[in-house]
Amino acid sequence: MDEVFAQSKNFFHLPLNEKMKVLRNEKHRGYTPVLDELLDPDNQLHGDYKEGYYIGVEVPEDDPEAEKPFYGPNVWPADGVLPGWRQTMEKFHHEALEVAKAVARVIALALDLEVDFFDKPEMLGKPIATLRLLHYEGQISDPSKGIFGAGAHSDYGLITLLVTDDVMGLQICKDKDAKPQVWEYVAPIKGAFIVNLGDMLERWSNCLFKSTLHRVLGNGQERYSIAYFVEPSHECLVECLPTCKSEKNPPQFPPIRCDTYLSQRYKDTHADLSVYNKHQT
Ligand code: OGA
Ligand code: NI
Repeated sequence: MDEVFAQSKNFFHLPLNEKMKVLRNEKHRGYTPVLDELLDPDNQLHGDYKEGYYIGVEVPEDDPEAEKPFYGPNVWPADGVLPGWRQTMEKFHHEALEVAKAVARVIALALDLEVDFFDKPEMLGKPIATLRLLHYEGQISDPSKGIFGAGAHSDYGLITLLVTDDVMGLQICKDKDAKPQVWEYVAPIKGAFIVNLGDMLERWSNCLFKSTLHRVLGNGQERYSIAYFVEPSHECLVECLPTCKSEKNPPQFPPIRCDTYLSQRYKDTHADLSVYNKHQT
């Protein structure tokens, strides 16, 4: 975690023109500038006051699997710009997946499923798993004016493993339906993962596990975090689990393929890539 934070700082300290060379591509890999993402359009004036960097599962261009929307080669800062950077990120990506699988086994048991339910090939055997470095520049948020580090949202997949530095900022709302909503800070714990439940888990479990509504408020201090988003295979049909429905408790969501669902969620929250054409040389 310490190494990833150190290398994340090295990257975000680069001049903007250097970072724009590794701008996010259509496979959701690479750099996302400040305001690229708008998570809560109903309550936000602009996009999020954060910049980020997406690193997915590395699949070489000539592998047939690279045709899938969330598979393909990553984009990396040019050799020599940030020595050791790629190795640090790949190591974290690898190890975080094992942590996620361990958490998924606990979730499986809690849902009365076989312990290895999420280990199957169509589940986390061939996952879509994305490491995202985040940097909040120190803008002060003002909810009444619609200014947020990250607008209120829940993540899309099974779970997210989140590591934060020691600057307060992350808030969760435990009761999404309460009016008005009550927001609580989540205190950072050194060396720990914060586990946010995602919307696919809410769909699988028929709302037994509700996804975690969360947001980030800036307090004027610079802040770094590391998110690791965990989703099943592209083809996985996310549908109400047999242990989570009954005659009295029918499924609340229709089945949906993981890649279809994710593509829509990314499209809804990220700027169209054509807005960046003016930056290209
Ligand atoms: C996210 C997120 C929280 C944080 O990237 O989805 O909620 O603390 N990040 O940066
Ligand atoms: Ni989130």
